[in-house]
Amino acid sequence: MIQRTVLVLLAIFACGFSLPNPRILGNEYLYKEFNLITREAWSGRPARQPTRMVTPVDLVVIHHSYQPRACFNIRDCSAAMRSMQDVHQITNGWSDIGYNFAVGSDGNAYEGRGWDQVGAHAVGVNSRSIGIVLIGDWVSVVPPAIQMATTRKLIAFGVKLGYISPDYRIVGHRQVKPTECPGEALFQEISTWDRFSTVVYVGVQKPYPLYTREEWGAVPATDVQPLKTPVPYVIIHHTYIPEACNTTQQCKTAMKSMQNYHNSLDWGDIGYHFCVGSEGGAYEGRGWHNRGIHAGPANGLSVGICLIGDWRVEQPPQEMLDTTQSLISEGVLNGAISPSYKLQGHSQVMATECPGTALLNIISTWDHFTEEKFDINKQ
Ligand SMILES: *[C@@H]1O[C@H](CO)[C@@H](O)[C@H](O)[C@H]1NC(C)=O
Ligand SMILES: [Zn+2]
Ligand SMILES: [Zn+2]
Repeated sequence: MIQRTVLVLLAIFACGFSLPNPRILGNEYLYKEFNLITREAWSGRPARQPTRMVTPVDLVVIHHSYQPRACFNIRDCSAAMRSMQDVHQITNGWSDIGYNFAVGSDGNAYEGRGWDQVGAHAVGVNSRSIGIVLIGDWVSVVPPAIQMATTRKLIAFGVKLGYISPDYRIVGHRQVKPTECPGEALFQEISTWDRFSTVVYVGVQKPYPLYTREEWGAVPATDVQPLKTPVPYVIIHHTYIPEACNTTQQCKTAMKSMQNYHNSLDWGDIGYHFCVGSEGGAYEGRGWHNRGIHAGPANGLSVGICLIGDWRVEQPPQEMLDTTQSLISEGVLNGAISPSYKLQGHSQVMATECPGTALLNIISTWDHFTEEKFDINKQ
């Protein structure tokens, strides 16, 4: 009721502005749930070069602004929106305020780039996510309940309008790049939300989604040994079977079937350290610090990465290759892989067709590839 009054008041004070934008406000649902303050209403400048986003997106990225600090009424929150737009548009030279939406401690949502424009808030996932900033510094305190409630309603509204996929996931900005954002307190809070995902988008060359064991539904490992790191080798595999997976769902299924099969061989877990899908997702197998079972004599000296699919004749898609390379860089950076590592295909270690001729030809052009056969006696 109070919110509705505020909206009416705003409409009166804002006479001279056009009527509330139908693309945003022309929905009965919205009036009942929360107020969405349009760009016109907070006196935003137009975007310089808007880029249309392909929707629905499957990701919502949560931010805090840190600066400006929390705002508790429309006047202050509108000023906060203008100051963020000034920094992003004038200082940074971006097309517009970076976020798709903002939410104030007044419980109102504020339109940034909106539902269908690519934002500038989380490099690597901008074109596939809605970025929402909760105005304020949420490092040590959580936002007021109404601010969080509106954030959730805003997301639900996006789903209802068809801009956010019904099986979307929520992540904090810090899962996309090393940053304190959205603040420790807010991050702890959102990690209790239903659609929160532990997925981490990291990446040295190119950010990529990393799905944890929990994310793909792994059963606990029954037998793992520590791996002595940094390892001197990276060994590349294909799976042959399962076939290439093109969606996260298909890749999760592939991971489960491999784990199931490797467990049936009494390996105690999926054999590989990581696998990569055709959609560019990385899937955690044994991880960086456990010894794998994937390349016989090289097991104790290597990280094994499998590219899911049969790559004897067909070439893996570029996303898959990019993610594989980023994953290797990540391993070097986090100390699991030696900076002077050697890259080999499985067939250079053992008599096997793996990783397939097409894939072997590709990795033979990558840095660190070595022609020589793996020889345990030379280690
Ligand atoms: C993924 O795409 C490839 C190439 O189009 C196709 O051969 C394969 O069957 C697809 N995988 C699944 C699990 O549908
Ligand atoms: Zn952020
Ligand atoms: Zn192999």
